[in-house]
Amino acid sequence: MDSTASEQGLRLGIIGAGAMGRGIAQVAAAGGMEVVILDANSQVATEGCEFVGRMLRRLAEKGKLSVDDAEAAIGRIRQAATMSDLAGCNVVVEAVVENLAVKQKVFAELENVVSEDCIIASNTSSLSIAAIASSARLPGRIAGFHFFNPVPLMKLVEVIESIRTESWVGDTLMRVGRQMGREPVRVRDAPGFLVNQIGRGLTIESAHIVDEGIAGTVEIDRIMRDLAGFRMGPFELMDLTGLDVTHPATELIYQQFYGEPRFRPALVMEQRTQAGILGRKTGSGFYPYEDGKQVVPDEPPAPTGGPDSVWVSRAEPEGHARLTQLLRNLDAPLEDGDQPSAGALCLVTPMGSDATSAAVDQGLDASRTVAVDTLFSMENRRVIMPTPITSSRMRQAAHALLAGDGRPVTVIRDSPGFVAQRVVAMIVNIGCAIAQCGAAAPADIDKATTLALNYPQGPLAFADALGPANILRVLEGLQKIYGDPRYRPSPWLMRRARLGVSVATPEDISH
Ligand code: NAI
Repeated sequence: MDSTASEQGLRLGIIGAGAMGRGIAQVAAAGGMEVVILDANSQVATEGCEFVGRMLRRLAEKGKLSVDDAEAAIGRIRQAATMSDLAGCNVVVEAVVENLAVKQKVFAELENVVSEDCIIASNTSSLSIAAIASSARLPGRIAGFHFFNPVPLMKLVEVIESIRTESWVGDTLMRVGRQMGREPVRVRDAPGFLVNQIGRGLTIESAHIVDEGIAGTVEIDRIMRDLAGFRMGPFELMDLTGLDVTHPATELIYQQFYGEPRFRPALVMEQRTQAGILGRKTGSGFYPYEDGKQVVPDEPPAPTGGPDSVWVSRAEPEGHARLTQLLRNLDAPLEDGDQPSAGALCLVTPMGSDATSAAVDQGLDASRTVAVDTLFSMENRRVIMPTPITSSRMRQAAHALLAGDGRPVTVIRDSPGFVAQRVVAMIVNIGCAIAQCGAAAPADIDKATTLALNYPQGPLAFADALGPANILRVLEGLQKIYGDPRYRPSPWLMRRARLGVSVATPEDISH
């Protein structure tokens, strides 16, 4: 099948009629393709065809598809008895078990049957496309076609090109994906492809914050929802997916990247996996579950009694402006001198440094200093961190003051980048690393993230919204304080932040 071939009347083979194969069959048939389904277990293939029929009829009942279109789509689906029934296919998508040897064997058998211009694609989520293609007779026609579960609801499909994939194959799969009603993005073969790499930022960094004792899982979930706008916090998400799925996937990406520190797994994930505390499926995860329902502890009550006077550092002009605006709205006893009066609560708004460094560098009394995260909206929640020697009186005064309008306040331990800044900076940095190596186009990095991961914004848009220079400072601060290369900023981010341009700015190197 060459790149000019029309997708009208296209015949698509699917090998593996499990959860993914069925979903792919549904969207392909709904997109007007002839679909042929093969499974090693013919009973499963039969059930798969019936299942897809029921799903299409249900869509018609809901008015999402006309009855005629649903019946026409069902009429386009048939079951293959043997591999040779796939002979006339233009494209075959493999969705069998995630095992390299099994996939290579399937591909070898398939190559004996299909024509030379048939595209063979794998729905693998973690195996290298180059490795699957390595034993093929014609590796140039092999690519990844990575759908997300449940396929009919998840619009994204990654079209993955290995080092051997010929460009007409990617071009055609992009069109086939669109005909299935999907939003395809083109990605270079790499561990975790695009989406599974970016998804690591949220979970791994949050788990490291727990390992360091900076904040608890419930607090981190609350912060990521209320400050950064995530629909689910990282620990609720891991409970839903199950650590038996998340943790091995994380370890694999880390190993496949030769121990890239950005993907270094956290101990809390390993320990809980070993203990069998996997999430919802085991009735116990980062949250307890009662009758299958997540049990969330109550928000701790805010202390009463604000400070007699409060002073806000001007070291960070943006943070100063945002915090003083909020404090005015709260009728706080605000001082306006260049230095705090003796006994005043000192609020700092560090960007990339911790409360301790802010207090010491600015010559403030650390026992009266509390840091406030002002990079994100403070509308739904406020996050504060004392230094190790901040008095409990001052910490409670800051807490009471910022809870003055009934908004919740989360107190975390001293850490550069608080929680949300730190986690979002890691997500941005991974997205930027992908852009830097040219594995995907900047716009596709954001599109894939919002479609597949349901994040409020893609990594590059997040950086632009918060200020590329701010994200850079957070990463540089983390790297300086922890001395850990996991925080080294991607040159892609560094250059765009220094140039003052959007992080999505592509590079034109054509002549
Ligand atoms: P599944 O276990 O639901 O279905 C696999 C099907 O393949 C089974 O029906 C099995 O009988 C059949 N099968 C196994 N060996 C076969 C062979 N040699 N020839 C023909 N059929 C064979 O698995 P699922 O979840 O549908 O996953 C399939 C593939 O999609 C895997 O590579 C997986 O990594 C990938 N994937 C899965 C996602 C998910 O969320 N479940 C998401 C994205 C990709």
